[in-house]
Amino acid sequence: MYLDPYTRSADHLDLLSAGPWQHMAPTVSAALAGIGETEATIVELGSGTGLGTGVIAHAAPNAQIVAVEPSGHLRAVLLHRVASDNDLRSRVTVENRPFPSSRLPEKFDALVMINSLGHLDPDERSELWRVVATGLLPGGHAVINLQAPTTSSAVPEFEMARERVGNREYHGTASAERVDERTMIWHMTYRTSEDGHEIGATEVEYRWNVLDADTLDTELARHGLHAGAVGDEQLGVFRVEQDARRR
Ligand SMILES: C[S@@+](CC[C@H](N)C(=O)[O-])C[C@H]1O[C@@H](n2cnc3c(N)ncnc32)[C@H](O)[C@@H]1O
Repeated sequence: MYLDPYTRSADHLDLLSAGPWQHMAPTVSAALAGIGETEATIVELGSGTGLGTGVIAHAAPNAQIVAVEPSGHLRAVLLHRVASDNDLRSRVTVENRPFPSSRLPEKFDALVMINSLGHLDPDERSELWRVVATGLLPGGHAVINLQAPTTSSAVPEFEMARERVGNREYHGTASAERVDERTMIWHMTYRTSEDGHEIGATEVEYRWNVLDADTLDTELARHGLHAGAVGDEQLGVFRVEQDARRR
């Protein structure tokens, strides 16, 4: 059964993710170069509130996009973003089932999964590589990122973002604990304050399956795929393509 860890953080998420997406957007756009100049189909897994969906739509102006978002709370923001923009509304289909149960097009020119891969366990990840290997049309590729840390380790609390809206400040911090070699638990705290006084705090946690670049290479090779880094190394973005002999 799908348990939605974003139920209680949804009100902060779009606001606090907008800044990080300003850094991420040029790299994701560059990674999609050549896709969607003419017609194309792009699958986005884990669209969240749609910050990345907008970037994909802008980078690939003629593409049809299937945006997969299982969290009802985040999907409400995503659907609002899509429905209130005529261009997005005409090209983006919102799918609610989590991968691997999602209803996806059989063939696609690109698959994008940003800031979400760690939600898939190793079996689901293997299914993802199978779907990418069999679904990519000639010349197509996937775009993913590996979020730091890429090996399982404890992370002391740090500030993710802080934004002011009206008289209130919205603030997110994160820390993580190591569970085992392949799994961490992230703890997020979202605070709201006014005039320096905290008026609300919500704690959220979720399991995260870590993946480093070497393990990614090994997993992809089993499916006739390989990865190449794109853009600023700190963002951990990779283009995943079929090996030449499989194209
Ligand atoms: C950290 S958020 C990132 C959202 C968005 N990509 C962004 O960068 O703003 C991770 C997203 O993955 C989604 N997710 C979790 N499990 C998923 C699954 N099995 N299939 C598709 N999406 C999933 C969550 O609901 C959430 O929207």
